[in-house]
Amino acid sequence: MLCLGIESSCDETALALVDDEHVIDSIIASQTDIHALFGGVVPELASREHYRFIGPLFDRLLEHNSINPRDIDLIAVARGPGLLGGLLVGVAFAKALGAALDIPFIGINHLHAHLLAAGIENKLEYPAIGLLASGGHTHIYRIENPWTFILLGTSLDDAAGEAFDKVGKAMGINYPAGKTLDQYAQKGNVKKYPLPRPHLDNQNLDFSFSGLKTAALELLHRENIAVDGAPANGQWQEIFDFCASFNLAIADTLTIKTQRALKANRDVKALWFAGGVAANSMIRKNMEELAAKQDKRLLVPSVAYCTDNASMVAFTGNLLAREGFFHDLSMETIPRGKKIPADMLRKNDNDALA
Ligand code: KG4
Ligand code: ZN
Repeated sequence: MLCLGIESSCDETALALVDDEHVIDSIIASQTDIHALFGGVVPELASREHYRFIGPLFDRLLEHNSINPRDIDLIAVARGPGLLGGLLVGVAFAKALGAALDIPFIGINHLHAHLLAAGIENKLEYPAIGLLASGGHTHIYRIENPWTFILLGTSLDDAAGEAFDKVGKAMGINYPAGKTLDQYAQKGNVKKYPLPRPHLDNQNLDFSFSGLKTAALELLHRENIAVDGAPANGQWQEIFDFCASFNLAIADTLTIKTQRALKANRDVKALWFAGGVAANSMIRKNMEELAAKQDKRLLVPSVAYCTDNASMVAFTGNLLAREGFFHDLSMETIPRGKKIPADMLRKNDNDALA
């Protein structure tokens, strides 16, 4: 089944073609340069850019792959959570194209798609514990199948990626800062600066990174550490050491809570780790060690499938369509902070099932 995937929930307009489980092509128009000028994503600018890009990207995708619109069997679109204006661009495009081609479409939970992306290059194993760490969310799920995700823990304030971005911004690193901070951390000493491992003194699986962020910001201020203003040679080592210490504090916190989730769900077969923060080398290594210690298989997408992309959306669309799921044109777009309703329809069934 040839599925067109559409992703427009944040600052990347992305389209992909996935045939059953095989990614045929995946393209992304990134807006990071525009938003970097403002130190974070400006929602109105993001929607305008999605609107500007989506049509030409679609034409280019089909042309590059010599595919006729009539060859497409299914359209999958990220319907939330995310920035409403951007999501509406993608969802309107998907609904209109689906109606014009008279093919089914399906709205995808962006967060579930991040985790299911682990299946693009590996065989998915269920039940699993899934850790999703991105710019807007830090969620731990128990995953029963492609449509049943039980939320076990969530971010109470800043998400892990948000902590990377805000601390990076204070250092003068361009948005999004996670990747650069990761690269600097690889050259630093993780033990140089003591930083807290927050919100562990409890029994739950929730995360709170805002205290760590504040501690890190104060440390930066106190030690006068910044990338801005051409640091002298000696100062770079301090920057690297700070990044390594901060990165380890996030890695440890994520790993400890994930370990608790695995211990409370001993029957799971695998640990899945996904989202933009899953591109982080130190955290990937921590998760590998954790999975090996707990005797679980670790499924982590390759870096290109960790950050926002449309392959994960199309791949998820195919998994769900194979089970008979679809949406009709009444499907709503869901902004960040609102729960995605269980409103998928299933073939031969008039009830919403998942
Ligand atoms: O999943 P994603 O692309 O978009 C959202 O759905 O939010 O995640 C983006 C987040 C940003 O906060 C970015 O700084 C972070 O992922 N990120 C990283 C790395 N690469 C991207 N964080 C830490 N280390 C990385 N290598
Ligand atoms: Zn994302």
